[in-house]
Amino acid sequence: MTTETTLSTELAAATGRRRTFAIISHPDAGKTTLTEKLLLYSGLIRTAGMVRGRKGGKATASDWMGMEQERGISITASAMQFPYKGAVINLLDTPGHQDFSEDTYRTLTAADSAIMVIDAAKGVETQTRKLFAVCRLRRIPVLTLINKMDQPGRPPLDLMTEVEQALNIHASAINWPIGSGSDFVGIVTRADNRVQLFSKTAHGGAAKVATETLPLTELGATGRVSQESLDQVQHDLDLLDIAGNPFTREQFLQGDITPVFFASALTNFGIESFLDAFVQMAPSPGARLADREDGADVSVSPVEIPFSAYVFKLQANMNPKHRDSTAFLRVCSGRFERDLVVKHHRLGRDIRLARPHSLVAQERSTVEEAYPGDIIGIINPGVFAIGDTVSLTGGFNFKPLPQFQPEIFARLRPTDVGKRKAFDKGLSQMAQEGTVQIMRSLHDQEALVAAVGRLQFDVLQYRLRHEYRVETILDALPFTCSAWLEGDPSTFKSPSASMLVKDQRDRVVVLFGDQLMKNIARDRNPDHVLRDMG
Ligand code: G4P
Repeated sequence: MTTETTLSTELAAATGRRRTFAIISHPDAGKTTLTEKLLLYSGLIRTAGMVRGRKGGKATASDWMGMEQERGISITASAMQFPYKGAVINLLDTPGHQDFSEDTYRTLTAADSAIMVIDAAKGVETQTRKLFAVCRLRRIPVLTLINKMDQPGRPPLDLMTEVEQALNIHASAINWPIGSGSDFVGIVTRADNRVQLFSKTAHGGAAKVATETLPLTELGATGRVSQESLDQVQHDLDLLDIAGNPFTREQFLQGDITPVFFASALTNFGIESFLDAFVQMAPSPGARLADREDGADVSVSPVEIPFSAYVFKLQANMNPKHRDSTAFLRVCSGRFERDLVVKHHRLGRDIRLARPHSLVAQERSTVEEAYPGDIIGIINPGVFAIGDTVSLTGGFNFKPLPQFQPEIFARLRPTDVGKRKAFDKGLSQMAQEGTVQIMRSLHDQEALVAAVGRLQFDVLQYRLRHEYRVETILDALPFTCSAWLEGDPSTFKSPSASMLVKDQRDRVVVLFGDQLMKNIARDRNPDHVLRDMG
């Protein structure tokens, strides 16, 4: 074999092993717990409980925020890599709670699949819906994990229906729970009718557990299950066979169907079989669409095109002593090596990708090489903006990242009018980096700042103070949602408590007081389209 063939075989094999995904969930559904169990089952940590204990204030392996909290401000998410049974897993963090920001959404653009964690007692919650909408936009395949089966929850058929109706996707149960809450006995895998028996583990599932399995037909004789639970599970299974959606990988990969698994992350129950299924089902990095210089669409194959990547996230002020930020790049094709000199397409010049790093569990380490699907962090001395493409060949740009519907809006001004110039410079720099969106009133051109999470405003003010020496005053505006307007703005019938603005790309956006107003506007303007993502 020639060296070239060996290299391309190595690239294809490394790409085939990659699984790059994000967990989407509402706060408290169990994302952190599941992440720890991934680390536990990958062998990276031996005891899950040791790295947790947030209530005790200790750092957690998967709570990357510690580093950022040191600076007194928690900012954004990042990625970690670990091996799992022959696969190389890249887990992208999508922060929730107050840390929810546009970065959370953008991170999903770098994922090839997602795991949606749902609390069995709560069902589909708001943040899950929002994140799912981004997966839908990109047609990212989503696996569903219904968590906390060791606790009383809602009937499984209800949960399946809710997933289908709330998210407009077909759901296909891969396994099914037997009993619930204190009567939870285990799960039966539909493909082979084998039962995994649940046993409560000590210390919150700190260590791996071996699960006892047996055929469903033998479960009754064990005396561990009531006749009522057995009848119920048989009834549900029959119903699923007749009326349920059969799972096909093709439909899953197109984002039309989500496989559903029941589990309990805290007790490790059902987690290993879920992870095994995840590695089997989830796609390895595929081709990505880009715009060629002549405007035509081009598909960038991970193994046929030499190194290319794009910036999906910028993280500012990792080190308070320097102004540098870190740019996170998703490798889309080819092999990356440390100190590679690449073309920066927007700037039209060559740059060296020096000091690349990644997170392997909680350790920051230097990257010597990376493959499609991997995430690398590069120190950014102000050359990278969100969406930038870099490559060895040049000649194309990955499709621009969508802008997401902002939900909070404010007027921002410098306290000292003499600082106007520095203020304008800082604000436009940060809008370019994607920290916030800037919008201008159609009426009087006044600038507004817009974001999906409060944290983005905090970061904006913090950075204006520290990097541009400008103190600012932020006046919140009474809008809670927005939409991009397609159609003539002069004929758009605005409901009360709404406002028309333009975004950075000169597109018209309508800001609404609440969702109800947005719905009314949709009804009143059948000739206009109101889009949630731009
Ligand atoms: P998040 O990252 O999605 O916000 O959720 P996280 O994993 O932190 O879990 C939220 C709470 O739910 C935690 O309890 C966690 O222990 C619990 N939990 C997660 N998975 C399961 C499960 O399968 N069964 C049960 N019964 N509970 C589960 P906490 O009391 O808020 O925190 P902690 O004291 O355990 O850290």
